[in-house]
Parts: sequence; structure tokens; C-alpha cells
Amino acid sequence: MPALDPTLATSVAGIPLAAPVILAAGTCGVLDEMADVIDLSRVGALVTKSITPESREGNATWRVIPAGSAGMLNAIGLANPGLDAFLEHHAPRAKAMPCKVFVSVAGFSVEDYVKVAANIEAFSLDNAACFPAVELNISCPNVKTGTEFGHTPALCREVVSAVRTVLKSTRLFVKLGPMTPDFTTVAHAALAAGADGLTICNTIPAMAIDVESRRPILANTTGGLSGPGLHPVALKLVHDVYQKVARERGATILGLGGVLTWEHAAEFILAGAQAVQLGTGLFVNPRLPYAISKGLAKWVRRQGSGSIAELVGAMRPAEPVAAE
Ligand SMILES: Cc1cc2nc3c(=O)[nH]c(=O)nc-3n(C[C@H](O)[C@H](O)[C@H](O)COP(=O)(O)O)c2cc1C
Repeated sequence: MPALDPTLATSVAGIPLAAPVILAAGTCGVLDEMADVIDLSRVGALVTKSITPESREGNATWRVIPAGSAGMLNAIGLANPGLDAFLEHHAPRAKAMPCKVFVSVAGFSVEDYVKVAANIEAFSLDNAACFPAVELNISCPNVKTGTEFGHTPALCREVVSAVRTVLKSTRLFVKLGPMTPDFTTVAHAALAAGADGLTICNTIPAMAIDVESRRPILANTTGGLSGPGLHPVALKLVHDVYQKVARERGATILGLGGVLTWEHAAEFILAGAQAVQLGTGLFVNPRLPYAISKGLAKWVRRQGSGSIAELVGAMRPAEPVAAE
């Protein structure tokens, strides 16, 4: 397997990555399960399953179903081992992992987020900074109140500043959902409260109905749409946040939503993302990160650039096609 192309080396919020390709929260196991199928030294980073203070079984099945060409619906409901079991049984392996590991943190109160984040930082400091970043999931559509902190600037500011206080050396990303009202205002609130970057975006609330039984197919009735149908929506949000908020502050954006080809990843980079995350694409092909890195490296060279970082936010203005 050839080494990663050096043009792909980049950094997110000051964290160096070998490639701008990151495995998204909840789509690559709790921590290192993807190592069974791919060489993790060939991705920039992965994000753990969202960790809550207590363990959670999640919602009843069905909780992952196909959604035709739009992608898939999930209503997992934040199933995870809980903070203590994560630290005891999973986290000790992070030190030896060949990619950066960011820990996704979820909760139902400010105290929940602070507790998990503080314990992650304490573990990381004792273990060779094995978790350089935390990603706050304040945008889960599949649990009650899962999107509350991500939907109003005041609540977003409250949770982000509380977590920032306990993270002395760990970088902080905040993950927002696409249905956030006044998205750029909430994005601004997160950065003003101390976030180093934003992950844009989580799934779109969605559902499917079995017309014969006349019942919703997901046991939770509703879930979140991920995959191709989400991509153009996420791309526009990245564009808006980069133009209106992130560029002037020098804040990092991680573009996420429906990346199935290197072109989707390149679109996110041009719109202003430093790196992209992949979720649904891993279910289609776990080796997709290799293909995306390969396509991006060739594209960087074709664009005459020495580094992918030069292409961040490098979209040109629209050029109307002349009428015949
Ligand atoms: C099965 C599944 C589980 C997920 N679990 C989480 C999670 O625990 N935490 C989180 O922040 N996002 C979670 N997500 C959302 C993804 O990280 C990502 O935001 C979403 O799938 C959109 O990206 P994609 O179109 O590339 O899949 C999950 C998505 C799927 C499909």
C-alpha cells in the first residue's frame, strides 16, 4: 500500500493530519473497530461513537434502514458504553492507534457534557495526549432534547463555554445539525464561546412509512437522513459559515454529509472546510477513504497546488453561461 501523498498533509485547529479525511462519529464503531477492515494510518483521524456519562442501549430496532438514492435513515439513539466503560475498556487502545482520535461527547445537560469532556481530557493528559480533540454532539435528532443545545445561540454559548473551561489543552469542535434555525448565528455563538472549529453537519430529521402495515419503519418513528441527499445541504451550510463567520476568525470547518466521491470531498474543501468526514460512505465501501485521498491528491496537482490547504475556500465566483 503506497504512503499517503504529502500534498494531503494538513491541520485542523492546529492538529496535524496526514490526510484531510476523517471517519465520522457513530459510523466507525466505538473506537478502533474499523482497523479490522482498513489501515487506519491511511486516514487523518476518526471520531469515536458519541459518549454519554451513563451507558445507553439506544432505540429499539429497526434503527438503520436504507433510504433509496438519498442514502440511509438512522435512529440509533446514542447507544454507547458510557464514560466509565469507555475509559476502562476502549480508551487505553487509543495511544497505539496510527491516526488521530477525536472523542465525540453527548449529553442531556451542561453538566453531562462537562463531565465527559473533563474526564476525556484528564485521560488524554495521562496517556500521551491520545485524544487531541473533543467533538461536542449538540445536534442528535434521535433522542429527546438531542438538538436543544444546538438550536439556540444562548444555549449553545452556555454549553460550549462550560466545556471550554474544562478543556485546557484539548481542541474543541462543535457539531451542528442542518435544521438549526439561523445556522450562522449559532455557528458564531459556538466559536465566540471558545470552540476551535465546527463540524457541519449532523443528519436531517426524516422518516419512512411501510404503506402495507401503515406503520413507520423506524421503531423511533423518525430518524436522521445521511448520505447523498444530505450533501448539497451540508455544502451550502459550510459555504455560508466559511463566508460569514469562520474565515475571518481563522476557525476550522470539518465538512460532513454525503461524501461518496473525491469530488464531494473537494467541494467541501473549496467551500471552506479544512477536512471532510465520511459516514454513510463507509457503509457503502469501508475502503472509500483510500479512493477519496487518491482522487484528492491528483486533483491538488491538477490544480497546480502544492498542498490541499491552499485550496481551502478557493471556490471561484459563479460564471453564468452565455445565452445562445
Ligand atoms: C449509523 C449512524 C450512527 C451515527 N451516530 C452518531 C453519533 O453517535 N454521534 C454523532 O455525532 N453523529 C452520529 N451519526 C451522524 C454522522 O456522524 C454524520 O453526521 C451523518 O451520518 C452525515 O454524514 P454522512 O452523510 O457522511 O453519513 C451517525 C450516523 C449514522 C449513519
